Amino acid sequence: MAAMWSPIIGLLLLLLPLGPSSAIKFPLEGNVYPVGHFYATLNIGEPAKPYFLDVDTGSNLTWLECHHPVHGCKGCHPRPPHPYYTPADGNLKVVCGSPLCVAVRRDVPGIPECSRNDPHRCHYEIQYVTGKSEGDLATDIISVNGRDKKRIAFGCGYKQEEPADSPPSPVDGILGLGMGKAGFAAQLKGHKMIKENVIGHCLSSKGKGVLYVGDFNPPTRGVTWAPMRESLFYYSPGLAEVFIDKQPIRGNPTFEAVFDSGSTYTHVPAQIYNEIVSKVRGTLSESSLEEVKGRALPLCWKGKKPFGSVNDVKNQFKALSLKITHARGTNNLDIPPQNYLFVKEDGETCLAILDASLDPVLKELNFILIGAVTMQDLFVIYDNEKKQLGWVRAQCDRVQELESVIDSRL
Ligand SMILES: *[C@@H]1O[C@H](CO)[C@@H](O)[C@H](O)[C@H]1NC(C)=O
Repeated sequence: MAAMWSPIIGLLLLLLPLGPSSAIKFPLEGNVYPVGHFYATLNIGEPAKPYFLDVDTGSNLTWLECHHPVHGCKGCHPRPPHPYYTPADGNLKVVCGSPLCVAVRRDVPGIPECSRNDPHRCHYEIQYVTGKSEGDLATDIISVNGRDKKRIAFGCGYKQEEPADSPPSPVDGILGLGMGKAGFAAQLKGHKMIKENVIGHCLSSKGKGVLYVGDFNPPTRGVTWAPMRESLFYYSPGLAEVFIDKQPIRGNPTFEAVFDSGSTYTHVPAQIYNEIVSKVRGTLSESSLEEVKGRALPLCWKGKKPFGSVNDVKNQFKALSLKITHARGTNNLDIPPQNYLFVKEDGETCLAILDASLDPVLKELNFILIGAVTMQDLFVIYDNEKKQLGWVRAQCDRVQELESVIDSRL
């Protein structure tokens, strides 16, 4: 019996401190594969309409595809999940010199000057690893936990660019959860119930998950905490060294680690990528797995029979881990095979770690970019108040179920 209860108690200990808090809870949909996104539903406007927004802790600006009264919707998806957000002219009246617009300009690097012809608009442009969005800042009402309302600012994205081979998008836009002053969590802090800017997400390996934004008390036990490196543009717990099967990588290179829920896969500098690939190949040389080239991903393997899930193949791979060094010491972030592999619909398994040097933006940054695949079944906390990052292993598919039976103001 005790053994049966222990995982549940573990979860309750994790969740109880979340109890009478005043955070906003967003159930998440999506998965690493085949969807490639984890997304929250935001109810925007009056009457409120739902929009799916990709949960992105790697960028500051929230925006959605938008039918602009002057510019229309260029490069918008022909079949978005929902009809385009259509603001009234009044929603777009954010004066260029206003504190809000100034804050957004600070948060989003490389925004061009405001147009003199149009000082009553706050224009933005934001560049991603894949694609770009351009538009004007809008303000509108969102409904919070189905009860309260809050006016927030976000981008009305009237012009999008993305690579021609992009699959149809399951989302209407992006929920920017970066540390910026105009970021989504920073804006919610103005809401009457929410006094703190703390973000937590639990992305389940079975798909779905949960996002908390607000002043929930992070779990008190089991969490590994590292100070947030403030010098950086992204959430980073420090410098990381990669270990494979407990052995450090040749030359012990270290790179800044970054948590980015908006990236589906994990990206590492070429030096680390090549070493991981050669170690994995070495481990598999005696196995029955046959290396094949994936269509979207460079490295996949086929078994004698198609794999049903990562569980069927994970024992053939070794664990990775990151040794993270920061001002208060060192921490480990374990990356078991299920956090760096996934199984496709055809039953092949692929490496979900990519070579960052093949991407022009990431190449310059030289980060170990920890994407959603590696954060699955971890409860990750971005505490912008105490300026620290935390993580603890959790059964992210059971969080919602258990939460409904515990006292909570969520
Ligand atoms: C987010 O905003 C902060 C504060 O303005 C800025 O320092 C940081 O560079 C921005 N991050 C990104 C990814 O643009």
